[in-house]
Amino acid sequence: MTSDSELLVPLHVAYIKSLGENKDDLVYHMTAHLRLNAIYWGLTALCIMNQKEALDREEMIGFVMSCWDDEAGGFGAHPDHDAHILATLSAIQILVIQDALDRIDIPRVVKFILSLQQPSGVFAGDSFGEVDTRFSYCAVNALSLLGKLSELDVEKTVAYIRSCKNFDGGFGACIGAESHAGQVFVCVAALAILDRLDEVDHETLAWWLAERQLPNGGLNGRPEKLEDVCYSFWVLSALSILQKLSWIDSDKLSSFILSAQDPDSGGIADRPGDMVDVFHTLFGVAALSLLGYPGLVDLDPVYCMPASVIEAKGLRKSWQALERRSK
Ligand code: FPP
Ligand code: ZN
Repeated sequence: MTSDSELLVPLHVAYIKSLGENKDDLVYHMTAHLRLNAIYWGLTALCIMNQKEALDREEMIGFVMSCWDDEAGGFGAHPDHDAHILATLSAIQILVIQDALDRIDIPRVVKFILSLQQPSGVFAGDSFGEVDTRFSYCAVNALSLLGKLSELDVEKTVAYIRSCKNFDGGFGACIGAESHAGQVFVCVAALAILDRLDEVDHETLAWWLAERQLPNGGLNGRPEKLEDVCYSFWVLSALSILQKLSWIDSDKLSSFILSAQDPDSGGIADRPGDMVDVFHTLFGVAALSLLGYPGLVDLDPVYCMPASVIEAKGLRKSWQALERRSK
């Protein structure tokens, strides 16, 4: 292997560790609305690189708990931010990975999540009401991790997702919206958790997903768009759940992801030469795990968490990854 075809694990670990260190940095303040999500992205990436201990567990749990919005009964992205379903899912994912779910008032969180479901079945992100199938996935994933799916109106939830299905087999953010690989992931993964994959047109959707691969090996999110490392995960996770990973060229995709690494300071960008960020670092590493990249830990594509954590909770659904290659 040449150096640019290898995953630079020590550099990526150092990059993720460095993110919380420079709190005077402008970027740090500009990304406050994503702080809890970013910690979940960083922690999951570290777990997949087998370096979970690189971030301090107690400090992390303390930060998660400082984001609790006691009025709403959910988590905000940052201390003193209002509760949002995206931050609440990240908090739950972090606490599950750190085996610390006992720190939260589960019935209150369940109540907050269920309060966001609209009469149509879709979920809002917060009390201000923006609705999106992303938030339906957040609700389903979070309730499943809390062991409280039995409290969800599954039929209503599935009915809304069904109404977002398009002629190409894909799904959009809301009724009538065009298919988008990110929304395909959230809808397929939510249906997988709810054991309702019968709602998906497997062959039609797998064709649409396979067509996302461009000549340079990267994947885009919609026709006519540029390739982007994060779509390696959104597309691949859906193909993995549909058991059709072999429909894309995995060697070319691996090379594309590896070419988007920063070989000096670590991290992965959306495409080669761009600035790295922790979001694309996670989704690059996550896709490489599904592609059987040597030395990585298995990732569960349904929950986007370490497979061992999901298995230990008895929540594993059927999905397929490529066999892990030896170094
Ligand atoms: C595209 O993002 C991605 C999506 C629409 C899916 C996002 C999914 C979540 C936020 C749910 C939580 C996810 C996990 C893994 C737990 P974009 O807005 O950047 O799309 P663009 O490329 O069209 O700008
Ligand atoms: Zn991206």
